[in-house]
Amino acid sequence: MTGTQDITQKVTSLVVSEDPKGANPRSAATPQEFVQPQPIQVGTALPVSEELATYGYILPDKNGDNLPKLFRPVKFRDLTLPNRIIVAPLCQYSAEDGYPTDWHFVHLGSLATRGAGLVIVEATGVLPNGRITPHCLGLWKDDHIPSFERIVKYAHSQGTAIGIQLAHAGRKASCNTPFTSRETADIAVSAENGGWLDNVWGPTNESFKPDVYPTPQAMSLDQIQQVKDAFVAAARRADQAGFDVVEIHAAHGYLLHSFLSPLTNTRTDRYGGADNFDNRARLLLETVEAVRNVWPQGKPLFVRISATDWVEGEGIDGEHTVELARRLHALGIDLLDVSTGGLTPRQKITAKPLYQVPYSAQVKRAVPDLATSAVGIIRDGKDAEEVLQKGEADLIAIGRPFLSNTSWALEAAAQLGVYVKWPQQYERARPKLRLIAPL
Ligand SMILES: Cc1cc2nc3c(=O)[nH]c(=O)nc-3n(C[C@H](O)[C@H](O)[C@H](O)COP(=O)(O)O)c2cc1C
Repeated sequence: MTGTQDITQKVTSLVVSEDPKGANPRSAATPQEFVQPQPIQVGTALPVSEELATYGYILPDKNGDNLPKLFRPVKFRDLTLPNRIIVAPLCQYSAEDGYPTDWHFVHLGSLATRGAGLVIVEATGVLPNGRITPHCLGLWKDDHIPSFERIVKYAHSQGTAIGIQLAHAGRKASCNTPFTSRETADIAVSAENGGWLDNVWGPTNESFKPDVYPTPQAMSLDQIQQVKDAFVAAARRADQAGFDVVEIHAAHGYLLHSFLSPLTNTRTDRYGGADNFDNRARLLLETVEAVRNVWPQGKPLFVRISATDWVEGEGIDGEHTVELARRLHALGIDLLDVSTGGLTPRQKITAKPLYQVPYSAQVKRAVPDLATSAVGIIRDGKDAEEVLQKGEADLIAIGRPFLSNTSWALEAAAQLGVYVKWPQQYERARPKLRLIAPL
């Protein structure tokens, strides 16, 4: 009997034992939860038999040190991830009043069963006016907690870790979803369509794109304090919902990034100044410190940044990013998720495979004790492994490829010759031969 049959039998007996009177469990009025009897996380490298080795899978040595780095476990505080693959935060524009919908349950649930070490929920507004669109997620009230908790519980029932990206969209808030035709509708959303054009916040009153994007108010000190408090309150709620990781969104031109960059922060108070890095970094650093104080000590805190504004000779650059990384590391963050861009329409980006990796590598060289993740057109397991082998990052975040292929991580494992745990329900679909030719 093979291991697969063993597992199948256990699942069958579990389902039967839930139904002592012989009634069909599906007839119950409320949906049934299904908890994996063996919640080993999908994506965990498994020992292979001599027979499987003949199909090209790697026989791990005693400590698994000969496995590709992508499939070696990694520990942050009390959280151990079975591999180095992160599902990057991906806005779905499918929330109602900040609440996750069934779309999120299915979307995140399916990703939580497909082998990534960690799934990070999309940018989630810490205040209603911190959403990019009226259909972005939010965690600004306690009432939001149960719908997130349902998703977290499901991910955990599959043995999968799940984080949430907390965000304030700043001057890029109150915009239409990308599903709305940008030819027939404005980007800025008016109040009658669910927007809040009179309450968009930024470091100054300069719009991301005048006449197209909303015009923000230059934030008062009181509003700055409200944002910090809102990040803290949302982190507390994220803990109550059971999330394993919080990631603070300080990238892509949203509020915290717009305070960091000299291109957008020309304030004259202690939170700004085109030539004052300390002042521009203050909002992010104070926010991180305050969140770290309430986020449980055993749970890791990540920060996503844009390492360059892609404006030649101006804006955020490598030196700035390294200094920021040092300060964030000193505050106790566990990982810097290194992205780029999104601040200004003046940016000139030539996107190509691995194009953002050098920015992660730069941080790794300067602050080797701070873990980083690289993201951006990392195509497959081979690309990801190369980045890790070169020491350019510690983890790999994957965005769009997971949307087009939820089994990206399982295929990366096959490509690298690692025999990983599959969802047991899908085990019979696992190709006997590796999916992709050996390297
Ligand atoms: C549909 C979509 C939604 C996104 N939403 C977010 C988000 O909520 N937060 C964020 O930091 N980045 C977001 N991003 C950026 C991705 O996380 C990722 O950094 C980017 O897609 C590059 O990685 P990739 O080439 O693997 O897709 C989004 C990207 C896409 C395509």
